[in-house]
Amino acid sequence: MDASREKKLIAAIAPLYKKGRDGDWEHILRTVDLCRYLLGHENGNPNIVLPAAYLHDLGWTAVDYSDFNAATPAVKTKTPSFIQHMEQGAVIAGEILSDLTYSRPEIQEIQSIIKIHDLPETVFKMNNINATLVVEADRLDRYGNTGISRFKTMFGKEKTKGPYWEEARQLRREGLNNWFRTPTARQLSQKLAKEMGL
Ligand SMILES: [Fe+2]
Repeated sequence: MDASREKKLIAAIAPLYKKGRDGDWEHILRTVDLCRYLLGHENGNPNIVLPAAYLHDLGWTAVDYSDFNAATPAVKTKTPSFIQHMEQGAVIAGEILSDLTYSRPEIQEIQSIIKIHDLPETVFKMNNINATLVVEADRLDRYGNTGISRFKTMFGKEKTKGPYWEEARQLRREGLNNWFRTPTARQLSQKLAKEMGL
């Protein structure tokens, strides 16, 4: 990804994320790093994968996510804000990318990824390596010690105990089979799962 474009992209989105959910900007930076790591070992177009990673969670800055926060881990995907954040994110990404002179086809591909980025099964059906890498990097950030810290920041320290945490851990155990397709992401997910005692 062109360095000056990346700088402009960061300048446009960092203030938005910082006004959004706690910890989201740090999550975005880790997701971008994870994408770079995956791109070092797998095919994929950095000019699509990296902007998509930077922009993918912007929708949370535009929706009321109190329903998402109130739901237990297994039913968060059933809340209205869960779908809305993907739709809104695609819209906001389109506006930002147009300002940064991305081409129509590039914008459309990035938007198509953001629109479904939290539906791994749907994404993997696209058979698009760029979309696959974004989903894998995003999901990898739920694992390891950083995954636990992020969970505490988002939902509260008390949520890393008892049935709520057990539900979240179970989702992550199942995620090891459902959220990763490339050998590089599969390997890293296993390592990070061990780190958090799964
Ligand atoms: Fe994310």
